[in-house]
Amino acid sequence: MKAHLTRRYWFAASHRLHSEVMSEEENRRTYGKCNNPYGHGHNYALEVTVSGSVDPATGMVCDLVALDRFVETNILEKFGHANLNALAEFRGAVPTTENICTLVYDVLEKGFRPASVEKVRLEETMLNAFEYAGERGLRI
Ligand code: NI
Repeated sequence: MKAHLTRRYWFAASHRLHSEVMSEEENRRTYGKCNNPYGHGHNYALEVTVSGSVDPATGMVCDLVALDRFVETNILEKFGHANLNALAEFRGAVPTTENICTLVYDVLEKGFRPASVEKVRLEETMLNAFEYAGERGLRI
């Protein structure tokens, strides 16, 4: 029996939406206020969904302490209170919700072993969120 577990985290970070492959004018037109050279911040809500069978001994899909520790060390400590544009992970990439979300998915997928990563959902504001379920998620 496969079950899903979703855990929610928060972090605050700043960014500027600006693409190196577009002109200043195109950047302003595409990103509007989000292209402001001084950047701006968000309180991101991050949801990580993992799956597995329910362990008969613990009654859990995955050790929550292990998941928390992994996310804390590999995501929250790195992205929390950071200027995302300055991180090596976003060199050459615009730190949009889409790119942050897929990056978080890849970090979990590559490094977290106690359970399978199903989906990552990232809320940037109350009005927008993005979710990514890996390449599998693109199959129709
Ligand atoms: Ni923004």
